[in-house]
Amino acid sequence: MPNRAIIIGTGSALPSRLLTNRDLEAMVETSDEWIKTRTGIEQRYIVGEGETNSFLATRAAKNALEMAGVRPQELDLIIVGTLTPDTPMPSVACLVQKELGAKKAGAFDLSATCSGFIYGLSIADKFIRDNRKMKILVIGSEVLSRRVNWTDRTTCVLFGDGAGAAVVTGTKEDRGILSTHLHADGALGDLLTIKGLGTAHPVTMEMLELGWQYIQMQGREVFKHAVKALESVAWEALNANGWTTDQVDLLIAHQANMRILDFLREKLGLTTDKVFINIHKYGNTSAASIPIALDEANRSRLLLPGSKLLMVAFGGGFTWGSLAMRW
Ligand code: COA
Repeated sequence: MPNRAIIIGTGSALPSRLLTNRDLEAMVETSDEWIKTRTGIEQRYIVGEGETNSFLATRAAKNALEMAGVRPQELDLIIVGTLTPDTPMPSVACLVQKELGAKKAGAFDLSATCSGFIYGLSIADKFIRDNRKMKILVIGSEVLSRRVNWTDRTTCVLFGDGAGAAVVTGTKEDRGILSTHLHADGALGDLLTIKGLGTAHPVTMEMLELGWQYIQMQGREVFKHAVKALESVAWEALNANGWTTDQVDLLIAHQANMRILDFLREKLGLTTDKVFINIHKYGNTSAASIPIALDEANRSRLLLPGSKLLMVAFGGGFTWGSLAMRW
């Protein structure tokens, strides 16, 4: 048997402030009804005083390490998928490494938006295929509330903050990560973007007046591309492993919109119990959405030894990808 990467612990963390659709009604011209029917979202959590991306990421990491029975000093690598780091430098991964005291670990952030966790797991998988003794912490963590224009109803109702983590190591057994497929299309990047605050458009009065410090999205266009890409990458994973859809025990897809999840379920012919949903509780948490869902599915024993798990993600860039594994 070749080396295979397995997940031996999962964890998640949410910030302290609950923001319901009713709360948003008092902030912008919207309604609980509109948000629920168009997106499935009922509430989301956002950071309060003293809560940062690395704070959430560290909490999620500690939960995952505890479940795995792995000490921070045993970690070889920390990968954090995020588009909302505390600072450009140091990376969130380095801040987590410091907080955990993971002295031996290399650490880096990965920029693949909502696909960050899948991209991160696929990198971990490659390391572990070479050396199954390695222990790698993969995190998706976001503070999108600091990149949202709270006066723009077309975006501010969609996003939330949070973090999720997984401890990955290797086995010789016939289980674990079976395939990963990564894709991108930079030509469509303008449909979902934060134009400012990078080095191309640093902070100037003009940039701030244009609102380029905020997430800007052409929702309908993004929706169309998301459903197509998610469906095609799901089939790619199924075909690569010779799986039929009725063999899938659980689909964890990026939680961006309930209508996207329903569309995907119908296209793949899956029953509702096979599609994990938590978007109503957390909104779209970008790179954190899949690892939070994975942790919830794992802790509620929806994943049992041998379960066939398919994960699919799509996000700004555009980026998208899939991962198939036997739990
Ligand atoms: N409350 C009330 N009305 C709103 C609103 C809100 N929060 N946001 C937009 N509207 C209005 C629009 O102004 C528009 O009004 P008009 O018809 O008078 O012009 C109407 O609702 C419909 O807007 P539209 O943008 O066409 O709605 P939609 O059905 O496409 O839903 C999204 C909008 C954003 C929920 C949807 O497009 C979506 O989920 N897109 C994909 C998002 C995504 O997945 N992003 C992340 C990928 S990682």
